[in-house]
Amino acid sequence: MHPVPLTARRNGPLTGRVQVPGDKSISIRALILGALAVGETRIAGMLEGEDALNTAKAMRVLGAGVERTGDRLWRIRGVGVGGFAEPKQQLDFGNSGTGCRLALGAVAGCPITATFDGDASLRSRPMRRVLDPLERIGARTLASTEGRLPLTLAGARDPIPIVFRPPVPSAQLKSATLLAGLSAPGETTVIEAEATRDHTEKMLKYFGAELRVDPFEANGRCIRLAGQPELVPQPITVPADPSSSAFPLVAALLVPGSDIILKSVMMNPLRSGLFTTLAEMGAAIETIERRAEGGEEVADLRVRAGPLRAVEVPGARASAMIDEYPVLAVAASFAEGVTVMRGLKELRVKESDRLAATAALLRANGVKVEIEGDDLIVEGRGRPAGGGVVTTHMDHRIAMAALVLGLGSERPVRIDDGSFIATSFPGFVELMSSLGADLS
Ligand code: S3P
Repeated sequence: MHPVPLTARRNGPLTGRVQVPGDKSISIRALILGALAVGETRIAGMLEGEDALNTAKAMRVLGAGVERTGDRLWRIRGVGVGGFAEPKQQLDFGNSGTGCRLALGAVAGCPITATFDGDASLRSRPMRRVLDPLERIGARTLASTEGRLPLTLAGARDPIPIVFRPPVPSAQLKSATLLAGLSAPGETTVIEAEATRDHTEKMLKYFGAELRVDPFEANGRCIRLAGQPELVPQPITVPADPSSSAFPLVAALLVPGSDIILKSVMMNPLRSGLFTTLAEMGAAIETIERRAEGGEEVADLRVRAGPLRAVEVPGARASAMIDEYPVLAVAASFAEGVTVMRGLKELRVKESDRLAATAALLRANGVKVEIEGDDLIVEGRGRPAGGGVVTTHMDHRIAMAALVLGLGSERPVRIDDGSFIATSFPGFVELMSSLGADLS
């Protein structure tokens, strides 16, 4: 891909009604569970971004029928639990950690050998954490450089149900283990000390798997999955991605006079930490209509510009807003006072070292920021100077957060490469422009 430099500059207020693309987590899970079900799964509102498209390609290479039948409409013909075919080519997940790690889990429960690869960003990310439980289930890692991609995995011939306690809060790790556990006889148990997004659990239940979720200690959950279910296809409607909604939402808070409506935003409590935090900061976000759609709660949100105050964001909230810290840090730089975001260790192993990249993006634009241990500390002074050039490190969320900063800062903000925005938010520039943003 050629780098696509972009510049964001101040313009008039943002106004209008928009719906951001479908949720990345749910789209990827729908493709994988659809491929493991028996029969045809129809998906509406699919995210047609690179991460989901790469997962779709991988499911096709593994033997599922995957077809686009219209605008964001997809049809998957599944092969059944354990039924993947040995791929004749390697599986390339591009930039997608979720696609890759969940597919590792699904392949680990099948008696096939597959090679997984991705782009330079994905090749730098840790896979050992997911290989550990999969090897306990019976898969073998045949080739890999220090637990990184490219790697070759031989799935288990006789998968063993395990009890797994993820060493870090990660929905990808939990999901990979559950997907591998689908093939094992008996009960696979995942005990997470801190609850993470529960889309895999919800969708497995929806497809007819026997799955029990109980509270565990103060903030955790114990998930028990009965192995070898027959997954029955169900229609899936993908709600708008709250992590993508975060960018126009924060932009509207920062650009004076803005008043926008974001339609059908998923309000899953394990994803809505940003909304809680912005409300504490005094943001004017009004929930217009809360309703259930396709098994998830969604709402239309009205967002109006206004002053923000600094807050302390507890580490316990990190799982519910892990992808939102770059854009929250941007909001914090427009607030009055010092915002402290605690417990951000996992940000270091995202599409880039997002803790460092977020700090660098703010510094380049005249904001005082510190990293202390795993905490990010941002000094807000109402309106940053801007004028910086931001290095995005193949990270879609760093790119979008930097552009949001530039829509409100005194001087324009330029990013070195906006091409990775298409991994999660195809049409970002067009959608923001339709609200009145100046992005070129
Ligand atoms: C995701 C889980 C999170 C998140 C990622 C999507 C998922 O990663 O950052 O964008 O869909 O399960 P971790 O599981 O590594 O925290």
